[in-house]
Amino acid sequence: MARLSVVVLRSGMVMLTRRAPDLWGFPGGEPAPGETAADAAKRFLREQFGVEGEPGDAVPGGILVTKVAGKPTPADGREIAWVEARRLLEREISPDERPAAEAVAAHRRRDRYQGTHPKTFAHKYKELAGDPEAVAKAKARGSTPAGGHVSIMVAEVLAALEPLSGAVVLDCTLGAGGHAAELARRGARVVGLDRDGEELARTRERLAESGLKVETVKTDYSGAKGALRSLGLDAVDALFADLGVSSMQLDRPERGMSFKNDGPLDMRMDRSRGETAAQWLARATAAEIADVLRRYGDEPDAERVAAVLKAHPPKTTAALASAVATAKGLGPGRVKKRDAFSAHPAARTFQALRLQVNDERHSLEALLAALPSLLKPDGRAAFLTFHSGEERLVKGALDAQAAAGVWRCAPAAPLKPSPAETRDNPRSRSARLWTVVRRPPAEARTPATGA
Ligand SMILES: C[S@@+](CC[C@H](N)C(=O)[O-])C[C@H]1O[C@@H](n2cnc3c(N)ncnc32)[C@H](O)[C@@H]1O
Repeated sequence: MARLSVVVLRSGMVMLTRRAPDLWGFPGGEPAPGETAADAAKRFLREQFGVEGEPGDAVPGGILVTKVAGKPTPADGREIAWVEARRLLEREISPDERPAAEAVAAHRRRDRYQGTHPKTFAHKYKELAGDPEAVAKAKARGSTPAGGHVSIMVAEVLAALEPLSGAVVLDCTLGAGGHAAELARRGARVVGLDRDGEELARTRERLAESGLKVETVKTDYSGAKGALRSLGLDAVDALFADLGVSSMQLDRPERGMSFKNDGPLDMRMDRSRGETAAQWLARATAAEIADVLRRYGDEPDAERVAAVLKAHPPKTTAALASAVATAKGLGPGRVKKRDAFSAHPAARTFQALRLQVNDERHSLEALLAALPSLLKPDGRAAFLTFHSGEERLVKGALDAQAAAGVWRCAPAAPLKPSPAETRDNPRSRSARLWTVVRRPPAEARTPATGA
């Protein structure tokens, strides 16, 4: 099982333990089977140092703990030292702890805004840096903490894909690995796909730390069949797709996906290929832009918005939001949401451009077309959709396949998240869960069913 580092921070100081002569490292040990990395971190601190800690986000190879109650005393006679976090790299740190040390030194160097009128994204959304207090505060005010993906309708998805023990499950949209981890915990062999290599690397590391086995492939899910073949598989017992983007992608300004704050107008899920949204806007005609805004965003002011975008192609998310406001006659200063329930005036434009840049429609169409061949007889599929365009595609394909005899019955009306889930995680509001079950082979069907 992977060794875990526990990085303890307090008031700009970080706790080190000396393990080998002259080499310092963070406290750590082995997570117990089935124990999460965060729970293991809490247990180490209690057992080895007699303190209570509150684990926050992961750093490379470790778990960051920023709140510690009590004075740490090592249980086994090892030395401990508190070192200024910004001077951490001056110490002789054990080479395998170096990546974590670099991340921690950078973490503390970050500028911490203490005032009441935050202007930058990092100041406004402190939870993005894993500040546990900020995460708790964001949850308490009914928001989804920035940067941390909260998996949606997990219990409903697991129930739809049962039985899981011993089943081979394809998670087409691994993201932060939330659903995949739960599937693996229930004894499934999980294969996880994602086209975003940057987040995939983080997710692989997190899953390995928690001791959960998920086989991962960096690919667009339109290539699901090839990904399965590369693992020696032909079809699976269950398939899941949680469509769209993750909170990590949405909340990182450098990914350029959100109007929440300023960043380069990129929007690609896979930044290693393809055109950015800014490049596409600079190249497309006003008619092409208007068509995309109408088709993928149901934007009522498509022509007016397209004309403004073509006249001055934006290069940043703030410039895009401002251009949409201008086109709608709101004035560049009035680009904010009116209240918690109204949509941002630029929301439809952002959604439409993201779908265009990532060719989301064609990827989903290809996955839906391949679905019957990806599932074994009696296999189950579950799709989480988040907007009307996705709903139309999923419902249309599943209905047509049901009519062709692929599914046991036509897909039922989709399930919605519970009121408690939408209260705790506002990003779940628009989720709809669609499920179908593959028919058994023809010879196994009884004539009485007429099948
Ligand atoms: C909503 S998130 C999934 C979250 C995940 N279920 C969890 O609980 O952590 C969607 C993920 O699907 C990925 N994705 C979107 N479209 C994709 C495509 N066509 N092929 C592969 N991955 C895709 C995104 O990069 C993102 O990481």
